[in-house]
Amino acid sequence: MLRSLLLTVAAASVTKLKFGQDVNYPPYAYLDASGELAGFGVDVVKGMNALCSTLEIEVVQTSWSDCWSSDEGGSLGALLENGTLDACMTFTHTQGIRNHYVDFSHAILNFNKAAGLLTLLEEGRPRVDGNSHLAGLNIVDVGGWAPTEDCLGMVRNKCTGEKYSENYTLLVGDGNDDAMRMLRDGRADAMFIYSDQAKLYQCTGAVPPNWNCSLWENFGTDYAYVQTGQLEYVVNGTSLAMAKKGSKVPAQVNSGPPTTRTRRPTCLRAIAPVATAPALLQSAGLDGLTIRAVPV
Ligand SMILES: *[C@@H]1O[C@H](CO)[C@@H](O)[C@H](O)[C@H]1NC(C)=O
Ligand SMILES: *[C@@H]1O[C@H](CO)[C@@H](O)[C@H](O)[C@H]1NC(C)=O
Ligand SMILES: *[C@@H]1O[C@H](CO)[C@@H](O)[C@H](O)[C@H]1NC(C)=O
Ligand SMILES: *[C@@H]1O[C@H](CO)[C@@H](O)[C@H](O)[C@H]1NC(C)=O
Repeated sequence: MLRSLLLTVAAASVTKLKFGQDVNYPPYAYLDASGELAGFGVDVVKGMNALCSTLEIEVVQTSWSDCWSSDEGGSLGALLENGTLDACMTFTHTQGIRNHYVDFSHAILNFNKAAGLLTLLEEGRPRVDGNSHLAGLNIVDVGGWAPTEDCLGMVRNKCTGEKYSENYTLLVGDGNDDAMRMLRDGRADAMFIYSDQAKLYQCTGAVPPNWNCSLWENFGTDYAYVQTGQLEYVVNGTSLAMAKKGSKVPAQVNSGPPTTRTRRPTCLRAIAPVATAPALLQSAGLDGLTIRAVPV
């Protein structure tokens, strides 16, 4: 009697989780025109909440730096540290420093985001040549964002096939806009950044911008990429959940808490084949990609 009562209670129990995301990373994480949290991460969560009866994820707006901070070469953000948030969404699972502090869920896209280098164009010529090994130069990393600053030591120059000199000065900007300002005013010679970020920050009207559009104007005439496609820093693409190290959350997100009746995996494994997945990707502007299919 007691045993069956316990089973009933266990079967009905729902794991409630609170996930945070910032709003300046379209199409992954942004506010829509009516001010609602939107993006590919939120779409996946909605799908999981609908599919996974054992999991209920609430998404709240937070600052990326509440999740991951560039302080001291990289550290856990305050709200992941003290448990206010169970995880943060749409972080890239990078190699290096993040793995000392966090655990990641599986990736949600079959696409790893490459890094690259932006530099100013001066009379049509790049300030930093694509062949440069960066010796003696000032390079700014986008603080708090992937690729983290240690990743510059992992990637190769795609023109020469070699790793960069260690003889550069690494600066850290407070997010994309601040790093771009440092590039524009000459404090930095080049910027280490996702190789699609300049495109994502063109203000096309598709998403209400949450960044300074004028800093990103004249892409291709004021500034350009002299490196793209650098992937050596990625472990596993865009994750749904980045949680404090040792947390159970990545496992819960990957497969859902086991139910008493069945150990059949749910959640991230369940959403990949759902019929709405291609529509989700298309509406997020990610058509051509697929949700990474996880073998069940
Ligand atoms: C977590 O840290 C934030 C920011 O420092 C603070 O506002 C909040 O009260 C803390 N919460 C807990 C449960 O310690
Ligand atoms: C990467 O993600 C895939 C599916 O999204 C998963 O099968 C794999 O275990 C993940 N690898 C790591 C190292 O997290
Ligand atoms: C670093 O680069 C600068 C400028 O190119 C050069 O003067 C210096 O000798 C280099 N140092 C090392 C250790 O290579
Ligand atoms: C955006 O950047 C431009 C160029 O640096 C600057 O003049 C302007 O004040 C910035 N706008 C805001 C709202 O910060």
